[in-house]
Amino acid sequence: MTTHATVAPTATPDPAGPLSVEEAILASFVPETRHDPYPAYEVLREAGPFVPGPFSLQIVSRYAEADAILQDSAWSHANEPAFLHPDSDGSDLPASFLWMEPPDHTRLRRLVTKAFTARGLESLRPRVEEVAREIVDDAIRAGETDVVEHVAYPLPLTMIAELIGVPPEDHASVRAMSAGIARGLDPDTLLTPKELQARVDGAAHFRDYFEKLVAERRARPKDDLVTALAQVEAEGDRLSTGEMIATLTVLLVAGHETTVNLLANGVLSLARNPDQFALLRANPELALPAVDELMRYDGPSHATTRMAVKDMEIAGHSFKEGDGVLILLASANRDPRAFDTPERLDLTRYAQSASVPRHLGFGVGLHYCIGAPLVRLEMECMLRELARRAPVMTLLADPPPYRPNIVVRGIAELPVRFEV
Ligand code: HEM
Repeated sequence: MTTHATVAPTATPDPAGPLSVEEAILASFVPETRHDPYPAYEVLREAGPFVPGPFSLQIVSRYAEADAILQDSAWSHANEPAFLHPDSDGSDLPASFLWMEPPDHTRLRRLVTKAFTARGLESLRPRVEEVAREIVDDAIRAGETDVVEHVAYPLPLTMIAELIGVPPEDHASVRAMSAGIARGLDPDTLLTPKELQARVDGAAHFRDYFEKLVAERRARPKDDLVTALAQVEAEGDRLSTGEMIATLTVLLVAGHETTVNLLANGVLSLARNPDQFALLRANPELALPAVDELMRYDGPSHATTRMAVKDMEIAGHSFKEGDGVLILLASANRDPRAFDTPERLDLTRYAQSASVPRHLGFGVGLHYCIGAPLVRLEMECMLRELARRAPVMTLLADPPPYRPNIVVRGIAELPVRFEV
C-alpha cells in the first residue's frame, strides 16, 4: 500500500549554483520555479531513470521509461486520486475515464471519441479560423494586451463550449468553475484550503449546471455533445447520469484549461525566438508541425502518475504491485537521449523527419489525449493567423508570472505589445 508523504511547498531552492537532486525535486513542484522547471528536470534525468520523489512515488523524468510505462498495461492510471488526493471521496474530482481502466475506460471513451476525430473536426475549421481571426484583429487593435486573457482563453473556450453545447451566455461562468478543478488536479498537499474548496465548489456547480442542460436538451434536442450523451444515458445501461456529468465536466475543463496554456506558451516561445517566428511567417505551412514542436518544447502537461498492477523490474529497479510513479512528461520531452538539441525551439523538427520521436505532451497509449486533434486544429489556425498578420510581438514582462499549477502548468498573465 502506498503511503502519503508531503513536499514542503514553502521551501525555496538556492538559486545560485547547480541544484542537488533534493533541490531539483523541490524545484519541480514549488511555485517559485514554475517559470522554468527545466534545469531541475535535467538534474533529475541525470540522477537516473527512477528517483525517489514525494508521495512515495518514483519520479520518471527520462523519455524511454516514461514512454514505455505509459504504453504498458501493467501500469494503471486508476490510482491517481489515491496517490495525490487521498482524502477526497471522488465527488470533487470529475475525471471520468481519465482515471479509469478497461472495461469502463473503453466504454466511456468510445461514447465520445466520434466527436473528436481529426476528420470530423475538419468541418469546424472555418469557425475556428473565424474566431482566431477576430482574436488576432482585436489584439493588434488593442496594441498592448494580456495574451492569456484575450488571445489564449477565447478560442479553446469558445470551441469546446460550442461542441459540448454550452450557450455563449454561460461561457464566463463555466470558465470560472473550471479553474478551481484544474488547480485541484495538483496534489492535495500543495493546495490551500481555499483552493481545495474551489475544487469542491467547481464540481458541485458543474453537477447542477449539466443536470439542467441535459434536461433542456432532452426537451429540445440539438446537434451537440450534451444531446448525444443524454440520448445514450436515456437508453439505459451504457452510461449512468454520474458518468455522463463527469465526462462532460472533464471534456469541458480539459478542453480549454490545457489549450489556453499551450497558446500562451506558444506566443511566449515565438516572441522569445523571433528567428522561428520569421520562419513561420515565411512558411505558413509549418503551422501544423509547429504545434507539435511547441508542445514538445514547452507543453502545458507536466505530470501524470501510474500504479504498478503487478511486481516487475524496469532498468534495474524493482516495483511491487501498488507502487507508483510520477511521470514528468515535460522533462521526457527535453531528454537529449531522445531529441537532438532538445532545449532549442525548431519549428521544422516535426516537418523534416519522420524519425523524430513523438513528444509525450499528449501522453501515449490507452489514455492518449482524446482532444489532440482539436488542439492541433485550434493551434494551427492561431499560428497561421499570427503568421498571416505578421505582428511584431514584444514581451512586456519576461519571464511572466506563472500560476502555481504543476499538472497543467501555465502562465498567469502575458502582457505583449502587438504591432504590424
Ligand atoms: C494543449 C492541450 C492539451 C494537452 C497538453 C493535453 C494533455 C493530455 C495528456 C498528457 C493526457 C494523458 C494523461 C495521462 O495519460 O495520464 C490527456 C488525456 C485526456 N485529454 Fe487532453 N490535453 C489537451 C487538450 C485536450 C482537449 C482539447 C480535450 C477535450 C476535448 C482533452 C481531453 C482529454 C481527455 C478526456 C483525456 C483522457 C483520455 C483517456 O484517459 O483516455 N484534452 N490530455
